[in-house]
Order: sequence, then structure tokens, then C-alpha cells
Amino acid sequence: MTSIDTARPLRIALVGTGGIAAVHAEGIAQLHGAAHIVAATDIDPDRLQAFCAEWQVANSFASLEQLLDDANVDGPLDIVHLCSPPGLHKEQAIAILLRGINVLSEKPPALSLQEFDEIRTAEKTGGASFATVSQHRFGGRALWLRDVVAEASFGRLLTGVCNTLWFRPDAYFEVPWRGKWNVEGGGPTMGHGIHQIDTMLSLVGDWAEVVGVASRLARDVETEDVSHAIVMLEGGAVISVVNSLLSPRETSYLRFDFEYATVELEHLYGYSDDNWRVTPAPGYEDLVAEVAARGPHGQGSGHAAQFAVIARALAAGQPLPVDTASARRTLELIAGIYASAFTGVRVRPGDIDATSPFYFSMEGSGAPWVATRMATTATVGV
Ligand SMILES: NC(=O)c1ccc[n+]([C@@H]2O[C@H](COP(=O)([O-])OP(=O)(O)OC[C@H]3O[C@@H](n4cnc5c(N)ncnc54)[C@H](O)[C@@H]3O)[C@@H](O)[C@H]2O)c1
Repeated sequence: MTSIDTARPLRIALVGTGGIAAVHAEGIAQLHGAAHIVAATDIDPDRLQAFCAEWQVANSFASLEQLLDDANVDGPLDIVHLCSPPGLHKEQAIAILLRGINVLSEKPPALSLQEFDEIRTAEKTGGASFATVSQHRFGGRALWLRDVVAEASFGRLLTGVCNTLWFRPDAYFEVPWRGKWNVEGGGPTMGHGIHQIDTMLSLVGDWAEVVGVASRLARDVETEDVSHAIVMLEGGAVISVVNSLLSPRETSYLRFDFEYATVELEHLYGYSDDNWRVTPAPGYEDLVAEVAARGPHGQGSGHAAQFAVIARALAAGQPLPVDTASARRTLELIAGIYASAFTGVRVRPGDIDATSPFYFSMEGSGAPWVATRMATTATVGV
């Protein structure tokens, strides 16, 4: 990783010291002194102490409020990373933003569009920035493909695939915040497929319409455990999206069929250059080889890649990626998949506003497998 020029090491605080917090600590360590974790909080004191000991975090706090009151004393916090369960992101983000401190939230950034819009309001009021983790946007080949699309180097995008086929056994859902609408926000569409959906949109542009289907087939959860969607992009291409937690051969798979080439990315939780494949259409071999050789190469995806971009943006006073306008586009498509799946209608950007139950919860008017709500789905609009 190239060096990051900051006047002083950036001061980061972490909220939540569970599973993903260690990935954040590792990613911050890879910034080689350009940033360090100065404080952390968790409601589980044992987990908090173990985390702070392992990652040499000097200040631990029993609550976010105490952290915000005290951790600014030795110098201002540059950013707070939210590594807490999804149901807490909105409330915690607003508390931090209103103190004028930037936030980097784990996905999903909020449980609903309504929550997300509250965060956007706090962003403006507090004069600070809210960014969302989407680590697969930042690998070198993703940057390359974004240029390929912008310059139409492979011609028009015609069709594609965006699959998150993962496997989560029953035990995975024993964590209290999993599998429930009001704390996880949704099933694989919201919690897992969001990685691929967000990366896909960041590469190929805005969506124009979606038709979705969702089912709860095999896990004892409130949410779906599988969903399928057909997404029409503004540019006219049609993308098939599948999100599953029931798939023993796991894969995260993006495929884009352009006029002159197919570009595929297949990995599970992170990619290097080797996970990409480019196949020319007959007659386009030389052109495709020349375009594929363009940079950048060698930078894999992962939290460290996004943190490096954010650190540079913080040092330069520039907007922090992934910004709220961009993250909302993804959240709105996810809400559209649920709305279409649960009401049977096609959904377009802007359809889900404050008159829609899907604005307030991804569950919206109710999943069809919730028997008591089945009667309402036929009559409630998007
Ligand atoms: N980007 C990725 O690849 C990725 C991967 C896994 C998880 N995540 C996301 O990261 C977030 C956390 O997931 P996880 O797997 O680390 O969960 P986890 O349950 O392992 O950790 C969450 C931690 O938050 C703590 N916590 C709960 N309430 C709190 C509060 N009020 N204040 C402070 N801490 C509190 C818990 O005690 C726990 O230690 C979720 O949003 C999840 O979707 C992202």
C-alpha cells in the first residue's frame, strides 16, 4: 500500500468490538501509522478489554456517550467506526454526527430508508460525513472496470449476474440480532447480498426498475433466506440478482456481458486480481487484451483498501467514500426488491417514499410467510 500523507496520525474510535472489529483493527494497522485506534466501546466488558489489550487501544469506555465525552480530550477524533449490530447504527451515527465527528458504518448502514434519511439530516446538521463500508468497491480491478464502463471500452453493457450464494447453518442465527427485521433489517438481500449489489451498482450505474421474489425456505428466521431479482439498469442492461444463505457451494459472483467481452469476478469474501476473468467476443481478442492490461493491478479488495482511500480523503478534507448519496441508491434497490417481492409490483427509484410501508422497514407490508399478514399484502401498494 502506498504511503498516506497525514499531518498527524488520524484518531479513530471503534464502537463494538465483536467479529468485524478485528478486521477493522487489522485494516487500520495496514495504514502503517497513518491512523490509529485511540478508543473503543462495547457493552460487553470482557470483549472490550480483550480487544483493547490485543490491539493496544489505550482508552476503553462502557458507553458511546462516555467515549464521545472523553476521547476527544487528547485531540479531536477524526472518525468513529461503527462495528455494532445494524439495529444500532442509526442512533449511534446520529449521536456522533451531531457532535461534528465523521462516521464510517459497517453495512447495512441503517435498517430502512427512513433511518438512513435521518442519518443524512444529522450529517447536514452536524457538519460531518457519514460513510458506509463497502470494501469490494476498492480493489484495483474494480477501479479498472469502472473506467472500462465509463469509457465504453468493451462497448455497451447488455446483461449480467450478481450472485451472493452463501451458506449459513442454523447456529449462525443464534446471535440475538440475526434473522429479525427489527434488528438485522432483512435476510441475505439486506445483510449479505448488499456487498455484491453495492459493488455492482458502483460499477455499472443507476438502476431503473426491479422485480423481485423472496422466500423463507429452510431457516427458522423472520426474514427471507433466499431472494431473486431482475434489475433493469438506466443504461438498458438487465442484471439477474440472487441472494441466498442456503447454498453449500458458496460463491460471490459478478458477471458483466458487454458487446466485446465478458468480465467475471468470482470470490467469497475478498478478491485479488486472480479472481477476475475477461473473455473476448470473437474478433475482439486484441482490443480486449489491450484494455485488460491497463491498470491498476495488484490491489485486492478489503477493508484496508477502503480505509486507505478514506484516510487520504480525511487528510485532504475531501468527501468520504462511500458517501450517503451512493449508499442510499443501494439501500433503495434493496427496499425495491423487498417491495416487489412482497406486493408483486415492479418498483422504480422514487416509488418508495414516506407513503410506502417499505420506506419505514424492509419488511414493509409484511412477508407472505407471516400468516397473520398475508391478507394485507394483496391490497397494500408499494
Ligand atoms: N463488511 C463486512 O464484510 C462485514 C462482515 C461481518 C459483519 N459486518 C457487519 O458488522 C456489524 C457487526 O457485525 P459482527 O459480526 O461484528 O457482530 P458481533 O455480534 O460479533 O459484534 C457486535 C458487537 O457490538 C457490541 N455491541 C452491542 N451493543 C452495543 C452498544 N450499544 N454499544 C457498543 N457496542 C455494542 C456487541 O457486544 C458485540 O461485541 C454488522 O452490521 C454486520 O453486518 C460486516
